[in-house]
Amino acid sequence: MVSDAGRRGPRIIAVINQKGGVGKTTSAVNLGAALSEAGQRVLMIDLDPQAHMSLHLGVDAANVEQSVYDILVDENCLVNDAVVRVDDNLDAIPAETDLAAAESELASTADRNSILRTRLADLLSRYDVVLIDCPPSLGLLTLNALTMATEVFVPMQAHFLALQGVGKLLETIGMVCGSVNPELQVTGIILCMHERQTMLAKEVVSDLESFIESSRDQDVPWRSCRVLQPPIRRNIKLAEAPSFGQTIFQYEPTCHGANDYRALASDVLAAWNPEITAEVDCIVETPPTTSETVNDDPPLDVNNDHAKVAGSDRDHVESS
Ligand SMILES: Nc1ncnc2c1ncn2[C@@H]1O[C@H](COP(=O)(O)OP(=O)(O)OP(=O)(O)O)[C@@H](O)[C@H]1O
Ligand SMILES: [Mg+2]
Repeated sequence: MVSDAGRRGPRIIAVINQKGGVGKTTSAVNLGAALSEAGQRVLMIDLDPQAHMSLHLGVDAANVEQSVYDILVDENCLVNDAVVRVDDNLDAIPAETDLAAAESELASTADRNSILRTRLADLLSRYDVVLIDCPPSLGLLTLNALTMATEVFVPMQAHFLALQGVGKLLETIGMVCGSVNPELQVTGIILCMHERQTMLAKEVVSDLESFIESSRDQDVPWRSCRVLQPPIRRNIKLAEAPSFGQTIFQYEPTCHGANDYRALASDVLAAWNPEITAEVDCIVETPPTTSETVNDDPPLDVNNDHAKVAGSDRDHVESS
């Protein structure tokens, strides 16, 4: 991963995987919240018409004067009106379902891939980290994220065929880098809903690491990528928190899910500032509660709506 030495402006991280339900929103929200807890000034941008990031943060875009849609389609939009204070050090630009229309409305605009970058340029100096939650597709919204980002994090589940999907994603990012954002780098893979004890997960992670190692000396945007640590275990509290409009640190700050995302933030900060000890509390393994086993949660309850989504392996083509 690229360190902070000599950098100017915030880190702008696009959280991307065209596969649906792999943990993009959960990771963007909870990694961002953990970074803000650690003293980073964080802005989260919801660039998905499903508006799951906004819901997860408890922000109702209907009550906000402007949303990311207005920023994209209205050049006179006052960007500040779209920024919502979520917590100390933590702001968000929410989305509404109308964002789905932006793709077609902007289709014939000349600079359509760089609108977000242009319109947010003056805002970003207020922040240390910007996290963009992308939809499970590689359309115009995701291209706007890739054009504006300095780096990409790819959440994934260590499942059969997941590696092929990530390989295709990286190739697409490589093409985007070539055309609109040559500086963009894929710096981190986040393993989500990880079941480290299964043979399949072990094999997928080992293949993933070999793939990354084989790219080190190639001129590809993922040559400095690494698997971020630790993998995020499956934890029912992470699936419950969005329905309360809370980050995991507001909802259940001592559960495994909170500990994993705190440790992930610590790992990320240590890579950015190798000489500074990360200001995040060390992970403290809490004793299992009645609803958690020591290693991972039991399989989720399939009668619960959230659980159904959590366990699903669906592919989204377009999210609109
Ligand atoms: N570590 C975890 N343990 C248990 N459930 C999880 C975990 N991570 C995510 N989930 C659940 O899995 C589901 C999918 O996660 P999430 O919404 O973050 O994925 P996504 O990639 O953003 O999906 P989409 O592609 O639809 O935007 C959600 O119900 C979420 O609460
Ligand atoms: Mg999502």
